[in-house]
Order: sequence, then structure tokens, then C-alpha cells
Amino acid sequence: MTELISEELPTTRPNPFDPPTELTGIRDKARISRLEFADGHLGWLVTGHHQVREILGSPKFTNDPGSHHLPDKRRQVDDSDTKRKVEPGMFLSQDPPDHTRLRKMLQGQFTVRRMNQLSEWIGTIVDDQLKHLRTFDGHADLVKEFALPVPSLVICALLGVDYDEKHRFQEDTAKMLSLDTPVKEAMAAFERIQEFMRELIARKKASPGGDDMISDLLATGEPTDEEASNMAMLLLLAGHETTANMLGIGTFTLLQHPDQLKILRDEPEVIDNAVEELMRYLSIIHFGPLRTATEDVEIDGHLIKAGDTVMMHIPVANRDPEKFPGNPEELDLRRPATGHVAFGHGIQQLARIEMRIAFAKLFQEFPDLRLDVAPEEVPLRTNMGIYGVHSLPVAWSA
Ligand code: HEM
Repeated sequence: MTELISEELPTTRPNPFDPPTELTGIRDKARISRLEFADGHLGWLVTGHHQVREILGSPKFTNDPGSHHLPDKRRQVDDSDTKRKVEPGMFLSQDPPDHTRLRKMLQGQFTVRRMNQLSEWIGTIVDDQLKHLRTFDGHADLVKEFALPVPSLVICALLGVDYDEKHRFQEDTAKMLSLDTPVKEAMAAFERIQEFMRELIARKKASPGGDDMISDLLATGEPTDEEASNMAMLLLLAGHETTANMLGIGTFTLLQHPDQLKILRDEPEVIDNAVEELMRYLSIIHFGPLRTATEDVEIDGHLIKAGDTVMMHIPVANRDPEKFPGNPEELDLRRPATGHVAFGHGIQQLARIEMRIAFAKLFQEFPDLRLDVAPEEVPLRTNMGIYGVHSLPVAWSA
């Protein structure tokens, strides 16, 4: 059976951790449904796990933002000056062969040496931020003092960006990701970060030889300057907001599930799987990804026609009982959670390492960490493309 969703896509969550109940109900009736997009386009909503995997891996869909219809009116562009276009080097929105070429270029930079070096840096950055947290005398906002700075410092170290210049990207990133920001303002924020990245590339070219990924990438002579600055921008944005939100809402989740937190404390070896399970359970990318068919394609008996836009719903797909049998609605740190699609089809090893180190050390160093407000008072990021908590007031015995 195929459901037709012509009302606005449900976004109200029954509680901070579960996706909208209506969407879970839709998945249980039909893993592929028709969805009316904000401009009236009749496309598709995909809520089944294996269907999401199939579409993300299929060459018959494009990721070109100019081809997509949008599900949310607030992101609609009706003026040709602001038409969404692909930026060279923003390979998240590119198709092969450019996507393959740029991704390969970048993968060459994720060497074993650099990943080992990074694990060491991450340990030091986390320790320093935990020391900083201690200075707050028993009460602090965990997002501001820990969850946001840790991944921001890590990505800055990786890319060779001076963290003291965080004012040039943190606020603008938040502006870009807020669904309430008018499109033109979001684009202006994008352009400001782009300018910062262009300056960074120019500085690195003027004094080559830095021990960071962008310097090494430039030394290969492979990317154009425009590609290099957009790749740096993609990594800077993708590398700090997502992980920051996982750390924020992941901590909230563990504090609200004391039985699971006890498992994490008593069985430290569970940490790798715990991170996968938190990723699966929380699935913080709550809109999209989107793809548009470039030719007719049949998925699960449904004919998706060339030009049709498909919106995948990762939080609901990651709780598909066909993939995670038993109790997919429950958080279970011991469940084998690999195979989730919370990273789309990408492999974000860096995010995994950061979360493993950050969660493990946070709960070791602050064994009696607790919420400092009632759970209903924690402000949720329902208005942002990336879900999480705006702040997380916590307390501990100083
Ligand atoms: C918890 C953290 C993270 C989550 C939930 C997450 C989620 C995602 C998702 C869902 C996609 C696929 C989007 C699509 O196909 O349209 C993606 C792609 C991507 N992410 Fe992340 N990500 C995280 C951390 C990171 C980090 C730390 C980095 C950077 C170092 C990063 C860099 C990228 C890049 C470069 C892509 C594009 C991959 C490609 O197109 O081949 N992400 N991420």
C-alpha cells in the first residue's frame, strides 16, 4: 500500500528522543510513500532502512541541489538570483565523476599517521575541555562548554584553522542551519564562511608547509583554489555541528536512561557499540537527505520517475524493525547497531573517534553528572536542519 502525504510533513516529536509518531506509523504501513513537496511536486518519502540504503547507493539519483524539490516551504527559493547551485569542491552535493575525484583526493589525506595523531589530539582536547568544565563550580551548559568546543577544536586542528577565529564560522553555521533563517540571510552567512575559507587558502599558499590537512591537500597540486576552499568549508561545517549535536543530545539521552548509562560505566568496552547505538537511536539529521531520479527507477515495486525527488527519513529508517528486530524503539547499548544509516552512506571515522573519547571521558571524570533543569525545560533544536539541544544545563558535585 502507498500512503499519500499532502499535508506538511509531521515534525512534532512525542518526546525529545523519538521521531514523529505519525511517520513511524507511515513506515509501518508503507516504506515508500508519495509526498507532496512545498511547491506542489508529487515526489516520494522513504522511511524503510534497506530502501534508504538502496537509493543512497544508486547511480540513478542525483544529489545536485538544483534538481531537488524541497519539503519545507521555509527553504523555498523563488528568485533566480538566489537559485541553488553546486559549488565546485562541495562534493556532498556533487555526483560522479567529480564526487569520486574529490572524495578520493580527500581520502588520501586521512592517512593512518594522521588518524593516530588525531586520536592523540582528541584525547588532549577532551581533557582540556573537561578541566575547563570543572572551573564552573558544579553547574554549566554542557553544549557551550564541552559539546560544541570539542569538535570545533578538533576540526580546526585538522584543517589548520585558528580556533580563535571561531567567530568567523560558528554563528554563521548556526544561522545557515536554522530553518527559520530567511533563504537570503542563510546564503549571506554561507558566503561569509566561504570568504573566510578563501582567505585561509590564500594564507596557506603564501606560507606552505603547515602540518595540517589543507596544507597537504594544496601541496598535491590537485584541487583548484576554489575546490580547496569549498572542500575546507564542507569539512569545517560538516565536522563540527553534527558531532557537537550528537555529544549534546547523546549526553541528555544517557542522563535520561540511567540503566544504559550504568552499562556504559560498568562495561567500558561497550563504548564503540554505544556510539553506534546512540547514532542509530538519535539520527540527528531529521530532514533528508534528498535525491532526485535522473532516470526511471523501480525501488521495491514503486516506479520512481526521472525528475521525481525523494526525501529519505533517517530517524524512522534507523528504527525499521526489518533491520533492527526486537525493540528498535528502545535505546540498547548492547544491541549490534552497525549498519545504521545515520551517516548516510558516508564513513565518518573522525566523528566516531571523537564521540568514543568524549563520552567515555565525560562520564569517567564526572560520575555524578546530572541534569540541572527539568527534562522538559531542555530546549530542543526542532527548528534546525540538524537536531539536538540548544543548551544542556548540567550539575555535578564540585
Ligand atoms: C555525528 C556526526 C555526523 C553525522 C550524523 C553525519 C551525517 C552525515 C550524513 C547523513 C551524510 C550524508 C548526506 C547525503 O548523502 O546527502 C554525511 C555526509 C558527509 N559528512 Fe557527515 N556526519 C557527521 C560527522 C561528520 C564529520 C566529523 C565530518 C568531517 C570530518 C563529516 C563530513 C561529511 C562529508 C565530507 C560528507 C559528504 C560525503 C560524501 O558525499 O561522500 N561528517 N554526513
